[in-house]
Amino acid sequence: MVCKEPMFKNEELKTKVIVITGGGTGLGKSMTQYFLQLGAHVVITSRKIENLQKTAEEFKTIPSGKLHIVACDVRKNNEVEHLLEDTLNTFGRVDGLINNAAGNFISPTERLSSRAFDTIIDIVLKGTKNCTMVFGKHWIENKQAQATVLNIVTTYAWTGSAYVVPSATAKAGVLAMTRSLAVEWAKYGIRFNAIAPGPFPTKGAWDRLLPGDLKEKFDISKKVPLKRVGEHQELANLAAYLMSDYSAYINGEVITIDGGEWLQGAGEFNMLEAVPQDMWDMLEMMIRSKKK
Ligand code: HXC
Ligand code: NAP
Repeated sequence: MVCKEPMFKNEELKTKVIVITGGGTGLGKSMTQYFLQLGAHVVITSRKIENLQKTAEEFKTIPSGKLHIVACDVRKNNEVEHLLEDTLNTFGRVDGLINNAAGNFISPTERLSSRAFDTIIDIVLKGTKNCTMVFGKHWIENKQAQATVLNIVTTYAWTGSAYVVPSATAKAGVLAMTRSLAVEWAKYGIRFNAIAPGPFPTKGAWDRLLPGDLKEKFDISKKVPLKRVGEHQELANLAAYLMSDYSAYINGEVITIDGGEWLQGAGEFNMLEAVPQDMWDMLEMMIRSKKK
């Protein structure tokens, strides 16, 4: 499948230093791998240093870009300030930030403690705020000509979703921040965009969103008009494009990559997909007969 293949073939990110939060696992890890192959220097960060070390070990043979790891809890502003400092000490500059770190789990909202709700808001919304403010202020103070922020949201950032209410609330805030700063900080040369993925299997998400036999009970690919889940390379391709100078005129956009999933859930009559082909002659006849 061509969608499993890298879209850029050369070192299209060669001059870039890019920080990816949550870069040691899942989609963050897939973006890290591809960006390194494209010649970027990548800093990955998350709470668990062992995740980062494992990923660094796995990618050490990629010849082009360099990988640096920094433990940081994005909820703590002083740790985010240290992340920036460490990045500058290591690579001398930073060109891009991907706010990818997240926390999430399914739960009826009335079962959540106040702290449970806060935990998700703190990682997703405040964590993105902390990183955006620390890196943004650095770019503005240093009059850096160009920088790019890419926020990983979800399609329920605009539809909302039952049973993941803290995540939906936080991702909606991240999307509002993306669009607001795309306008306000364009004058400083900082672009803001977002990717809204549909289902891309990762251990982090699947363990918390489809635990136990929920995976079998709800075949998630059936919710997607294209009848499949996403391939990590597809998302990495899109992210590479949005972090590259090829997308220099794209600012304030949220790009959905979900095989049409959210629209299938939204269209009033999409349930008619279940009508068998041979029933349509009869239905048409019934509708036309009403004219008389
Ligand atoms: C109810 C829960 C709970 C659960 C935790 N809590 N799990 N409440 N149901 N299943 C409560 C705890 O009891 C506690 O509240 C509070 O939440 C904080 O929990 P901690 O374990 O202390 O928090 P922490 O160690 O910071 O861990 C954060 C976490 C964890 C979010 C709970 O799951 C995590 O580390 N996640 C990171 C990775 C992740 O979530 N990846 C999935 C991303 S997928 P009290 O009141 O008891 O102290 C995604 C979108 C996918 O974002 C969309 C797919 C289409
Ligand atoms: P994942 O592997 O669980 O990624 C989440 C990452 O965030 C982990 O590396 C985790 O590392 C890090 N993290 C969590 N809390 C943190 C904190 N306080 N500080 C710093 N890092 C923290 O899940 P994923 O599926 O790849 O998700 C990646 C992104 O895609 C998320 O923004 C998610 O909302 C989005 N998304 C995913 C899907 C999907 O289908 N997979 C769909 C839509 C959107 P540590 O535990 O080491 O901190």
